Amino acid sequence: MIIVIDGPAGSGKSSTAKAVARKMNIEYLDSGALYRAITWLYLEVDQDIDTLFDLLSRVSISFSYTDDVFRVYVNERDVTSKLRTKKVADQVSAIASLPRVRSFVNELMREKVKQGTYIAEGRDLGTAVFTDADLKFFMSANVEERARRRFKELEASGADITFHEVRKNIQDRDRKDTAREADPLKKAPDAIELDTTGMRFDEQVQQICSIIDEQTDLTFK
Ligand code: DC
Repeated sequence: MIIVIDGPAGSGKSSTAKAVARKMNIEYLDSGALYRAITWLYLEVDQDIDTLFDLLSRVSISFSYTDDVFRVYVNERDVTSKLRTKKVADQVSAIASLPRVRSFVNELMREKVKQGTYIAEGRDLGTAVFTDADLKFFMSANVEERARRRFKELEASGADITFHEVRKNIQDRDRKDTAREADPLKKAPDAIELDTTGMRFDEQVQQICSIIDEQTDLTFK
């Protein structure tokens, strides 16, 4: 079984999907982390796109979700701590826009999902990767709210960044995610939309769990 949550950067997909996975006792899949791992690999091969494409035909990428951490392994090496660096963040949109990279990631996810019950989050899961998902959600929130949430997180982690910079970064990512040719961010017609502007985190989680409870065989604690 596969449940997907798509939505723009900062809409709260990751934290919500993780909390839902915990409550429903199902697996969690972070598709953005897989694009980040391939971007890390691209940086490792000195940004040579032909070498990257060549490697994609023989590299082994795997992932797991344990103790609230989504881990990604490239040829058995745990690269999780490399995925949130500025270098990766600066290049990931460009790498994720390449159709060859997208089909690699999609295949990886489809194979893994055959082995269990997953809640996966991303941008195109309901529209391109799992078009026949058991349930689809699209989470949104206005730019101000998303920037405010992201700024709070970054501030707490001691990052040296202004609210204005965070808002601009979110707007840039929205533009790149929605304007790209290959599988842009967009709500699937059959996705349930959840505008979380002004909604508390526990309300978001509760709403999603209730819908899953009503519409599937899963029940939550
Ligand atoms: O969710 P995130 O910020 O970790 O995503 C990293 C990048 O990957 C971001 O540029 C959007 C892209 N992405 C994508 O194109 N398709 C997905 N299903 C998930 C993420």
